[in-house]
Amino acid sequence: MEVIIAKNSAEGSSIAARLVANLVRRKPNAVLGLATGATPLLLYQELVRLHREEGLDFGGVTTFNLDEYVGLPPSHSGSYYSYMKKNLLDHINVPPQGINVPDGLTADIPKFCGEYEARIKKAGGIDLQVLGIGADGHIGFNEPTSSLASRTRIKTLTVETLRDNGADFGGVANAPHHVITMGIGTILESRVCLLMAFGEKKAGVVALAVEGPLTSMVPASALQLHPSAKFILDEAAAAGLEKRSYYNYVYEHKPSWQCE
Ligand code: GLP
Repeated sequence: MEVIIAKNSAEGSSIAARLVANLVRRKPNAVLGLATGATPLLLYQELVRLHREEGLDFGGVTTFNLDEYVGLPPSHSGSYYSYMKKNLLDHINVPPQGINVPDGLTADIPKFCGEYEARIKKAGGIDLQVLGIGADGHIGFNEPTSSLASRTRIKTLTVETLRDNGADFGGVANAPHHVITMGIGTILESRVCLLMAFGEKKAGVVALAVEGPLTSMVPASALQLHPSAKFILDEAAAAGLEKRSYYNYVYEHKPSWQCE
């Protein structure tokens, strides 16, 4: 696990964008796993800039989103499909057939989830999975006590997550309670996981995920099992980490052959 502590969210996002851009340049048919929420917005802005100003070509790229609300049509302003179009996909050149977001309207959820897993496999697996972290430690929508071996499936949101995400629906009362999410087992199969967290509100849960015990009570702690997981934090989100100075030392002394 690598912990990168940036000065602020802008610096952290540009480090993340560089990793994504290097992958896409190295492997033009890369498969990207994408996340939603406030955290990756600056990363997506930077990818749009790299596409427009530096010709970063997403023409061969395939994307898979982590999750979607059950019962929402893609056109709903609160859907993650809308979020992705608005914040990234309408502004870069991933071909429409390369875009995959779970279908919140599917009539047969277990069947759809199995097919989503099969689509990821057929695409060659996810090369790089972008992740945020929920206040309760969730990744994707894998809420606490999600099986660490879970695959794409339906989940029920916690009250805490409903409260956090309710604003997208004009209040908790209108927010969908169920979601389709890639499982923790699905996420762990990605070749690289890039978890971003910014702001003091995330400090406690980041410390639990990075330095606490591996437990389904903190789903992001499952990344401790991943051979190539990177946590990109700002100083506020890193404030609860005991080994902060060690992570900084490692990053500053990284040999050039290790830099991507
Ligand atoms: C949602 C998403 C997660 C995301 C989390 C954190 O619940 N399903 O993938 O990581 O929100 O959101 P934010 O980045 O806004 O804190």
